[in-house]
This record gives sequence, structure tokens and C-alpha cells, in this order.
Amino acid sequence: GIKLVTTAAELRAESARLLAEKRGSSQGLVPTMGALHTGHAALARTAVEQNDVVVASIFVNPLQFGEAADLERYPRTLDADMALLDAEGVDLVFAPSVEEVYPGGEPLVRVTSGPLGEKWEGASRPGHFDGALTVVAKLLHYGMPGGPAVDGGAAAYRAYFGQKDAQQLALVKRMVADLSFPVDIVAVPTVRSTEGLALSSRNRFLSEEEQEAALVLSRALRLLESRAVANEPLELDSVVALVESQPLVRLDYFEVVDPRTLEPLAENCRDTPFRGEGLAIIAAKVGPVRLIDNLPLSS
Ligand code: PAJ
Repeated sequence: GIKLVTTAAELRAESARLLAEKRGSSQGLVPTMGALHTGHAALARTAVEQNDVVVASIFVNPLQFGEAADLERYPRTLDADMALLDAEGVDLVFAPSVEEVYPGGEPLVRVTSGPLGEKWEGASRPGHFDGALTVVAKLLHYGMPGGPAVDGGAAAYRAYFGQKDAQQLALVKRMVADLSFPVDIVAVPTVRSTEGLALSSRNRFLSEEEQEAALVLSRALRLLESRAVANEPLELDSVVALVESQPLVRLDYFEVVDPRTLEPLAENCRDTPFRGEGLAIIAAKVGPVRLIDNLPLSS
């Protein structure tokens, strides 16, 4: 069954033991903040399919929260999280304390997300991506295979991130490339409710009426997708108007961007037939909750 560890030393020892015991040659890491749902389960499932040993981390990272109240409100459901991860076949859960991760208080030296971390989500959450990348850097170190592969060579190391958080995913890929982290980043497609709402731990704060209203986000993305697939002009403005006509939804941004740089594909989204690759990204406040969603476009 699944095992819970709370220190980096235990994690390393247990991961080395499991690699040896399973005669394994690969390790996967699934970083989370807990309050797990079917979206996280998809990450765990993919990691279990692709690796001999799988570690999931659960850590609500103070560094990536703006307001203290938001941090305190974040749901903590360790027992249910463990059961979900166990059912997916995860070997180890790493759930460190804040003191374990930040022993001297807040770190003096941090990862800077740069201009890619300042736009879109970064614009309304200053410092968020610096805090997220700093903890992801640490988690990628903690989650490294604790020992060699069965053949004596280095064990393969992969880490799993959801497409749901497209900007976080793009930034993690950039950090790993720019700072030469020895890990493969694997993107997992967004898991949605049957009606299309992207699963999020914040959805629990939506009333039934707000949940219904929130469906306009994924509907708008799918409308763009169908136009892209058909090589039609995206006519983004008309889709923006559709979202804005929903009274419970306050749109923050809705753009079609380059999937790597997140710069708008201005020409491509409006009057000319869509060609190539893009990423439609949307963020809106629905009732008390800020929601984000995105859909890759290609033709
Ligand atoms: P958290 O919000 O718990 O998300 C953990 C991982 O689950 C992220 O990679 C996220 O993109 C993915 N995920 C969330 N909802 C998903 C869905 N509906 N479909 C597919 N994947 C989904 O993201 C974080 O935690 C933190 O920023 C973290 C990376 C752990 C650093 O603190």
C-alpha cells in the first residue's frame, strides 16, 4: 500500500528502497497542494503507467499565495487524498511541513519567473509564479530517484503537470530547460466535468447557479477549437462578447497565444483562416471564484 513520509531524508531513503525492491529504472513525481480531485488522479494514473516508482507531494506552499486568508482557506483533506492516490497505485506521499521546506523561514534566494510570469495570471497575482517555481524547483530536487536504476545507471526521472494550469506548465518547462534540471516534464490533458467545466479544487466554492454560468468558459473555448479545426477565422471578438453576455461571469482575459511564449497571436485570431498552433486561454471571476481554462488549438 501507499506510504506517507514527511521529511526529505525519509523520502530519499524510501524511494531508494522501492527502486531496489521493484528492480525499477524510473521514478515519477506528481506535485500537488492536496484537496485532490479527478484531475490530480489523471496525473497520478499517467505517472503510474510510465514509471516503476511514483511519488506524489502534497504541500500548500505559502510562497505562492497572495493573501494570508486565501492560504488559510485552502482545503486540507489528507486522508481522502491518500485514499485517492493509493487507488491510483502511487507508492509514496511526501507531505512535508512548512518548516521542513522552509527551515529558515522564507528563502532569500528564489527562482524568478521573468516576463513569462508577469502576464496573464501573473498580472493579477504578483509574485505567484516566483513562489510556485521556487517550490517546484525544491520539489523536483526532493522527488529525484533516491538510488540508481536496477542496471546501475541513473534512473529516469519524470514530473507530471496539468495542462489546466497552462502558464505554470509553460514556466516549469522553461525553468527546467533554462536551469538544466535533469527531469522530463510530462503534460497531462485537462480533466473536465461531463458538462465541460475544468475540474479545480476551487469549484467547491461555486453555487449551483454559478457552476452553470461557469460553463460558458469551456463552451467559448470549444467554439474556437471548432473554428480552428475547420480552418475558419476565429473571430475572437464575437466569442468574447458571448462570454461577456453571461451576467454572473466577469471576464479578465480571453486570448489566443503562442503555447510556449504565451504572446498573443494577434493576426491569427481574428479575420483570417486559422492556421498552425495556438492556445486559447481564458480567466474570469464567477461569484467569489477566479476560474482559468484553456484549450490547445491546431489546424
Ligand atoms: P494544484 O493546484 O494542487 O495542482 C497540482 C497539479 O494538478 C498541477 O499540475 C495542475 O495543473 C494539475 N491539475 C489541476 N486540475 C487539473 C485538471 N482539471 N486536469 C488536469 N490536471 C489538473 O498547481 C499546483 O497545485 C501548485 O502550483 C504546485 C505545482 C503543486 C506547486 O505548489
